[in-house]
This record gives sequence, C-alpha cells and structure tokens, in this order.
Amino acid sequence: MNFRGWWGDAVHPRTDPIKARLAAIMARRRHGVAALERRSPWLAERLSFYHAWRANPRAIGAILPSGRALGAAMVREIDPAAGPVLELGPGTGAFTRALLARGVSPGQLVLVERDPYLATRLRRDFPDIAVFDIDAADLQRYVLFPREPAAAAVCGLPLLNLPLRTRLRILRATFTQLRNDGACYLFTYGVRCPVPQRLLERLGLRARKIEVVFANVPPARVWKLTRRMTPCGRTREL
Ligand SMILES: C[S@@+](CC[C@H](N)C(=O)[O-])C[C@H]1O[C@@H](n2cnc3c(N)ncnc32)[C@H](O)[C@@H]1O
Repeated sequence: MNFRGWWGDAVHPRTDPIKARLAAIMARRRHGVAALERRSPWLAERLSFYHAWRANPRAIGAILPSGRALGAAMVREIDPAAGPVLELGPGTGAFTRALLARGVSPGQLVLVERDPYLATRLRRDFPDIAVFDIDAADLQRYVLFPREPAAAAVCGLPLLNLPLRTRLRILRATFTQLRNDGACYLFTYGVRCPVPQRLLERLGLRARKIEVVFANVPPARVWKLTRRMTPCGRTREL
C-alpha cells in the first residue's frame, strides 16, 4: 500500500479514523526523517540506502553505500578538464561526491539512477546535476550528451546481479555515449572482472584492474574498461 499519496488528502478523524491515524503516523515519520537528515546526514544516507535495498535487493546489490576510499579510487584517473562524465547507478551519491571533489563541475555530470526514491534524493542533494531516472539498459535510446560525448563513465551498477544480455546492452550503450578514448570505471566485490572475457571480446573492449580498495566494506576492486584499438589505431564499431 502506498501511503505517500495521502499527504494531501483531507482526512477527518471522525469520518475516516483509520486513514487519519495512518496519515498521522506517516507525518510523524516524515518529520523524523527530516530531523535525522539535519542531525546526522551520514546515518540518514545509510538508512535511505538500506530502505532502497529492502525494496529491491537485487537491483541495489549492497547494503551499504561505497566508502570514501572506493569513491576516490573510482575517480582517480578522471581528468575533470577532459569532458563530461556519465555516472550509472549513483545510489545515494558516494561516487558523485568523489567526482565533485575531483573537480568535475556539476554541469558536466549526468547521473542515471533507475530507483525513483534514490533519484529524488539525488535531485535534492545535487540540484545542479542532471539526473535521469531511467534504466541503464535503455541508455541507447537517449542523447545524454548533445554537445560532446562523455570522456568517462563511472559505473556503480551491481553488474554481477544482471543477466549477461543486460550487461551487454548496458556496456554497449555506455560506450556509445563515450568518445573513442573514453574509459568506463567499475567496481566489484569479487576477484574477477564483472564483465566476462567473451563479453569484452564481443564488444571490442579490454579490462584492466587498476586498484584494490581494502578500506571499504566489503573490500572492492576497481576495473577500467576501454575500447580495443585495431592494429591501424582504429576502434571497432560496437
Ligand atoms: C550497489 S548500488 C551503488 C550505489 C553507489 N554507486 C555506491 O557505490 O554507493 C547500485 C545502484 O544502481 C542502481 N541500479 C541498479 N540497476 C540499475 C539500472 N538498470 N539502471 C539504473 N540504475 C540501476 C540501483 O538503484 C542502485 O542505486
């Protein structure tokens, strides 16, 4: 049952006591969440993440947002002057904050977050950044960078939870948003790259592990995907 639509309703306690009671409970909860956001943004972020995970564990893929060390590792190689940056699956914005700290300007960032609750939170926390609440697997249908292709992509999607076909669609679409020498950074809690070799070959990509981050719960590995160059220096069509 969705209680959110009830906020605007005129609920009279005498004619509709149950609805009025529920509306009062929700009002208190909303007030409590706002107070928590003010008092402890750190805890509020974790609770929001947990709330999203409970609603859809497979799509979120983790019960905690990434830590600062992983965020820094994900963006370390990104040159803020190189061009726009695409972020997939920003969640509560752990990598978004790292990108801003790296010097990427809000106007150069595009976030793609499918979860409407998290997308609303991102719009509130980063009002100057474009947030698309769309499925990353449908990226091919959108022109996210009308002026110039992105120089880099940061992927926070739980790729291992997605079928190979979906991973293929997401990566193909991501690389069509990137310029030829663009790179996509992703992380995994596993040992291997979350994009298997046969998928990389099919897409004409190569993967390189660039960092192991132990100061994250759980520890994570950062991978960098780039287009494979042909012997004459060209990239293959995806
Ligand atoms: C593991 S969380 C990572 C969040 C954040 N990047 C971090 O590291 O803390 C994965 C995020 O990807 C989003 N997501 C999952 N599947 C998606 C899809 N197909 N399209 C867009 N976002 C998706 C989830 O809603 C969630 O916010």
